[in-house]
Amino acid sequence: MKLSTLLQCSLLSLVSGFSHENLHRRTSSCDPSALNTTVGTYYVKENETISGLSRITNRGICDIARLNRMADAMIPLYTDQKLLIPPESCQPDNSTCLTVHHPGATYADCVKGGPHTYYTIKGDTLRYIALKLNLTTEALQSTAQGDNVDAEVEAGQFVKLPQCSPSTCSFHPITFTYGTYKDIADKVGATVGQIMAVNPTYNYTSVAKGEGAVITVPGSCEYTGSNITVIS
Ligand SMILES: *[C@@H]1O[C@H](CO)[C@@H](O)[C@H](O)[C@H]1NC(C)=O
Ligand SMILES: *[C@@H]1O[C@H](CO)[C@@H](O)[C@H](O)[C@H]1NC(C)=O
Ligand SMILES: *[C@@H]1O[C@H](CO)[C@@H](O)[C@H](O)[C@H]1NC(C)=O
Ligand SMILES: *[C@@H]1O[C@H](CO)[C@@H](O)[C@H](O)[C@H]1NC(C)=O
Ligand SMILES: *[C@@H]1O[C@H](CO)[C@@H](O)[C@H](O)[C@H]1NC(C)=O
Ligand SMILES: *[C@@H]1O[C@H](CO)[C@@H](O)[C@H](O)[C@H]1NC(C)=O
Repeated sequence: MKLSTLLQCSLLSLVSGFSHENLHRRTSSCDPSALNTTVGTYYVKENETISGLSRITNRGICDIARLNRMADAMIPLYTDQKLLIPPESCQPDNSTCLTVHHPGATYADCVKGGPHTYYTIKGDTLRYIALKLNLTTEALQSTAQGDNVDAEVEAGQFVKLPQCSPSTCSFHPITFTYGTYKDIADKVGATVGQIMAVNPTYNYTSVAKGEGAVITVPGSCEYTGSNITVIS
């Protein structure tokens, strides 16, 4: 794919609402004409991580994640998995697609508007599932099995989630062409965990390049009363 095509894709993404500012911003010390604008393909080696791949290719973690439409950049890579390598950028983005704990952040006791279950994926821990759903780990532990919140949980399990009652979300299908769930979540007022939970079969490794994957996105999740209780 040529850069012009990629820019078009970014523009399309912008139109459909998922912006990618970093590709366009430039620093004075960076010479754009010296960048490697080739979009390459890469086969992941055993135990390779996206951080390692970012370093050896000099591409931003989030730039890689977005071009490959990863639900979350932190889902472990598979050996021999084929990845697209984005063009080099003067502003490589290693951070804005990540769901991380910020000191002083507050978390909720329940999920607003559903869904009621989360389907675990490779690399999940209870702490990370809670973070993705903007829940306290205590709230998640009230409905999920497991005492050690940092132990990796087996992939492919349903985990029950505490629900806020009364609350609601609206759900709508979109064609996911570029970005990560974090980009979508921040825009629609839902969490990465909610989008994962309503799309348990989404697997970017099996979606063809150029064709969007259709996912369902929860949005406008809110309380619908003033006396909120946690139900499960
Ligand atoms: C440019 O990037 C592509 C894709 O990662 C890579 O295959 C190629 O070797 C790079 N070219 C140079 C000159 O580094
Ligand atoms: C990958 O990680 C596993 C588990 O830590 C280890 O047994 C294996 O030797 C590693 N493989 C390579 C190629 O580093
Ligand atoms: C972040 O991106 C830059 C530029 O691609 C890369 O050189 C660097 O190693 C990355 N950082 C991490 C922690 O992967
Ligand atoms: C997470 O939950 C807290 C407490 O309900 C709330 O103040 C905050 O806005 C939520 N953050 C997100 C990203 O949903
Ligand atoms: C996604 O697809 C890859 C390759 O087809 C497969 O190895 C992996 O197990 C799948 N992941 C999930 C969560 O289904
Ligand atoms: C709030 O809802 C709970 C559960 O439905 C009920 O037991 C409680 O009386 C309600 N409190 C108020 C102030 O309405």
